Amino acid sequence: MSAPTVRSQLFRRKPVSALTEETDGGLARSIGTFQLMAFGIGATIGTGIFFVLTTAVPEAGPAVVLSFVIAAVTAGFTALCYAELASTIPVSGSSYSYAYATLGEVVAYAVGWCLVLEYAVSSAAVSVGWSEYLDQLLSDTVGWRIPEALSAAPGAGGVVNLPAIVLVTLCALLLVRGASESATANAVMVVVKVAVLLLFVVIAATGFDSGNLTPFATMGVAGVSAAASTIFFSFIGLDAVSTAGEEVRNPRRTLPLAILGALVVVTVVYLLVAFAAVGAQPAAEFEGQEAGLAVILERVTGASWPGVLLAAGAVVSIFSVTLVTMYGQTRILFSMSRDGMIPSLFSRVDPRTLTPLRGTVAVALFVGLLAGFVPLDFLIDLTSMGTLVAFSVVSVGVVVLRRTAPDLPRGFRVPGYPVVPVLSVAFCLYLIAGLSGTTFALFAGWLALAALVYVTYSRTHSTLREPR
Ligand code: ALA
Repeated sequence: MSAPTVRSQLFRRKPVSALTEETDGGLARSIGTFQLMAFGIGATIGTGIFFVLTTAVPEAGPAVVLSFVIAAVTAGFTALCYAELASTIPVSGSSYSYAYATLGEVVAYAVGWCLVLEYAVSSAAVSVGWSEYLDQLLSDTVGWRIPEALSAAPGAGGVVNLPAIVLVTLCALLLVRGASESATANAVMVVVKVAVLLLFVVIAATGFDSGNLTPFATMGVAGVSAAASTIFFSFIGLDAVSTAGEEVRNPRRTLPLAILGALVVVTVVYLLVAFAAVGAQPAAEFEGQEAGLAVILERVTGASWPGVLLAAGAVVSIFSVTLVTMYGQTRILFSMSRDGMIPSLFSRVDPRTLTPLRGTVAVALFVGLLAGFVPLDFLIDLTSMGTLVAFSVVSVGVVVLRRTAPDLPRGFRVPGYPVVPVLSVAFCLYLIAGLSGTTFALFAGWLALAALVYVTYSRTHSTLREPR
C-alpha cells in the first residue's frame, strides 16, 4: 500500500455513515422537541436584545425594525443550512462534524477551534455580563453592591469575578445532572425571559406615538445596513440546537423543526420589542442609554420598578445562555475527542448520569478561569469571527454534501438551493469583512496555535490515521 500523502491526510473525510453509526450507546436520548426549541431560544435571546437598541437606533432611526428583518434573514439563511445538515448528520459535533464529512479533517479541526471561541469563550464573556446585571439587581432590590474586588477580573479593576465563577459552577452542576434536567431548567428560564420581553412590549405599546416613527430611516439605507450588522449578534445561538443531535428523540425530524421554530420565535419577539421601543421613545433619545429597555418603561409608566424587572429578566436570560453554550461546548469536544482529535477524557460518558462528566468539569474549569480572571471585552469580536467562519463552512458544506452524497436521506432540505447557501456564505463574509484588523490578527494567532496542536498531537491520534 502506498504511503499517504500529506494532502490526503489533511483532507481525509469521515464518512457520514461512520458519523451516524457511532451515536448509539453513549449519551441518553432524553430531550424532546419543545425542550430542544427552548435550547435554541435560550442560547439566542441573551444580552443582545437588552442593549442593542442603544447602538442600533442611532444608526438606523425607527427603521431599525427593517435592520432586525435583515439580520433575521441572514440568521435564517444559516439556520436553514444548519437544519439540513443537522437532519442529515444528527451528531453532537455540529459544524465540526459536518465539516469533517464534507471538507476534510484539517478544515473540521479548524472549525472545532472556532467553535471554542463561539461557545467556551462566549460563555465566559456572557457570564461576566451576568455578574453586572446581578450587581444591578441586588443594588435595586436590597441596596447592596458586590465589592469591586470580587466582581471584576484583574485588569478590569478587581481581583476576581466571583459571580461569574458561581454562574459557571451552577451551570456545570446542572449539566452533570443530566441533559434532560438541564433542558428542563433551560425551558423554564426561556419562558421567563420571553415573558419579560413580552411584558415590555405590552407596556411600551401603551406609550405608542406614531409621531416617533417619523422620520423613519434617518440615516438612509447605509444606516439600516450598519445597524443590521450590529444586531446580528443578537441572533447568534440557534446553531446550539444542533449540538444535541445525539440526545434528542427522532433527530432527523426534531432538529430542523427546533432550529426553525426557535428562529421564528426569536424573530417575532425581537421585532415586537424593536417596534414597541421605537414607538414609545423618540429615536434621538436612544443614544447612550445604558439600561435602554428599562428607561423606556420608566418613561411610559413613570415608575422605577421596570429597572428591577428588566435586570431580573437579564439575570435569568444570561443564565440560560451560559447553560446552553457550555452544554454545546461539551458536546462538540465530545465529538472531537471520539475522533481522536483531543484526549479521550472529553468523550468518556459517566454510566450513572449518561453525560460526559469529566469533559463537563474540564470545560467548566476553563470557562470559569477565563470568566473569573481575564478581562474579556476585547475577545467579543473574536467570538463573532469564530461563529461566522463556522457558519460559512456549514453553508459550503450543504453544497458539497448535495454534490458528493445526493441520495443521503435528509430530514429537511434547504429551499431555494443553491441560492440560499450561497447567500448565507456571502452574508457571513460580508460581516467578517467588517471586523477589525486586531480581530483578524488575534484569530490568526488562535489558528496558529490550533495548527501547532494539530501537528504535534491530533494528526497522529486521529481515528482516521492510516495504520503504520
Ligand atoms: N445572541 C446572544 C445574545 O444576544 C449571543 O446575547
